[in-house]
Amino acid sequence: MNQTKTCRSGILLLILLLAAMSIAGGCAAQSGGEKSAADQTNEGEDLLQESWVTREADPLSAEELSGDCLILVNKLHPVEKGEPDDLVYAPYYADRSGTYNRYIRKEACEAYGRLVEAAKTDGYDIRLTSAFRTYDVQKSYYDRYVQTKGQEWADKYSAKPGTSEHQTGLAIDVSSPSVNWELTDGFADTEEGRWLAAHCGEYGFIIRYPKGREEITGYSYEPWHIRYVGVAAAAEICGKDWTLEEYLANL
Ligand code: DAL
Ligand code: ZN
Repeated sequence: MNQTKTCRSGILLLILLLAAMSIAGGCAAQSGGEKSAADQTNEGEDLLQESWVTREADPLSAEELSGDCLILVNKLHPVEKGEPDDLVYAPYYADRSGTYNRYIRKEACEAYGRLVEAAKTDGYDIRLTSAFRTYDVQKSYYDRYVQTKGQEWADKYSAKPGTSEHQTGLAIDVSSPSVNWELTDGFADTEEGRWLAAHCGEYGFIIRYPKGREEITGYSYEPWHIRYVGVAAAAEICGKDWTLEEYLANL
C-alpha cells in the first residue's frame, strides 16, 4: 500500500515536472520566435548607439585639437587642457565679445567669414560673441554660472572645463542686434536666427544643440551655438536631421 502510494506520488511529481519544463521551454521558444530579424538588428543598433553616446571616453589629446575637424567633445568625451595650433583672429565680431574670445581655427574662420558675408548680402547682421575659449576661460564661465544660477542650470547650458567645444576653436556663439547680441532662445525666432538655421550648413556649420535632442547632446537648445564640421558632414547632418553624435556613430 505504502509502495503504491509512493509510486503514484512519484508519477505525479514526474508529470508535474514535465509539464513545468514544457511550459518553460514553450515560453522561451515563443519569446525568441516572436522577434523578427529586423527587431534583433534594431536592438543591436540601439545598444551600439546607446553605448557609443553614453560611454565615457578617454580624453582627446591636446594634439588632436590641431587635427581633423570631425572631433567629438561633449560631456562624456572630454579633451585635455591645450589649444589648436592654427587659431586666427576672426574679422567679424560683436563689440560685446571679449578680445580673447575672437579666435577660431583657420579653416572654420574662413567658412565663418563666408557665412557672415552671405548673411550680410541677404540683409542680416550675424556676428560672433564668443568663439575659442581656453580651458581656464571656460572654467571661469562655468564656475560663475554655478554660483549665480545653480548647478542644474549650469549643466544644461554650460560645459565643465575640459568638455567644451569652445576649446576646439570650431564652435562659435553668434547673435544679432535684434536681440541686443544676447544668447537667448528668442534668437531662433528672429530673421537672423532663421537665416542661420536655414543656411549655416552651406558653409559647413551645424546648429550643434538642436531642440528636442537634449538626451543625445547633453545640453538645452542653443540656437546661437554653431559648430564647424565641413560642408559634406554638415549637408548629411542637416539632411538627416541628425546631431553630431548620431553622424559620428553612423560613420
Ligand atoms: N554652451 C556650451 C555647451 C559650452 O559651454 O560649451
Ligand atoms: Zn557655445
